[in-house]
Amino acid sequence: MSAEIIDGKKISADIRQEVAADVRKMQEEHGLTPGLAVVLVGEDPASQVYVSNKEKACKEVGFNSFKYELSAETSEEELLAMVDELNGRDDVHGILVQLPLPDQIDAEKVLLRIDPDKDVDGFHPMNVGRLAVGAPVFVSCTPAGVVELLKRSGTELEGANAVIVGRSNIVGKPVALLLLDENCTVTICHSRTRDLAAVCREADVLVAAVGVPEMVKGDWIKEGAAIIDVGINRTDDGLVGDVEYDAASEKAAAITPVPGGVGPMTIAMLMKNTLKAAELTL
Ligand code: GUN
Repeated sequence: MSAEIIDGKKISADIRQEVAADVRKMQEEHGLTPGLAVVLVGEDPASQVYVSNKEKACKEVGFNSFKYELSAETSEEELLAMVDELNGRDDVHGILVQLPLPDQIDAEKVLLRIDPDKDVDGFHPMNVGRLAVGAPVFVSCTPAGVVELLKRSGTELEGANAVIVGRSNIVGKPVALLLLDENCTVTICHSRTRDLAAVCREADVLVAAVGVPEMVKGDWIKEGAAIIDVGINRTDDGLVGDVEYDAASEKAAAITPVPGGVGPMTIAMLMKNTLKAAELTL
């Protein structure tokens, strides 16, 4: 059997089109245009690319996009003052401070300062807590994208055994909470897990988010499983995921490619969160 490829590019484009339609409706019915402010401190080239992609996506769906590029020497007080200003603005519904931040700035302090109702990244402890108690408002974009891919590929989640490899705060833990909300039986694996292969072999849904190239082997995959590979690892052979793709595809029912799986979903979910932030003000 060869797995269905879960096309993140196509699903992301579909979601962005849905957001664009909702934006037009919001403008007609309420005269409101969602606005996203993105703050970039310093000149990290990867961050510059991410920020310009976010700006492009905003234009495409019809949002107002406000971009702030601050020097690498910006002080913590200056950045906090900027967050305060954005928190107070009626035309800014979502605020995203691009990470990583330079060493002189305490990222935790900055994330805490963002109004939780404008925290479209879902990184504020208030939003992490809302997710933990089963009442999510803003879920961070990559975990939300993982679950959206599963749903839109028609994967049965109710009662499924979901195994998550990786327990990071930015992916593994929130994915576990989201899948629990979908009534999966959830197991989180990590570096101390005994017999990882045996745990993975029980997975109807397997999410790999460890950042180790092809760590999850093809013969760990249960026949008919759905595989979401969050890993993007640069190797001499190019970009590879955390899952041994070719071998896993022989057994899985559905699998995400790398690249073109989870990656494109992050921006789509950011657009969805920003739309929601604007809706909350109505
Ligand atoms: N840097 C890399 N990914 C992200 C993200 O999703 N949000 C923010 N704020 N910074 C990032």
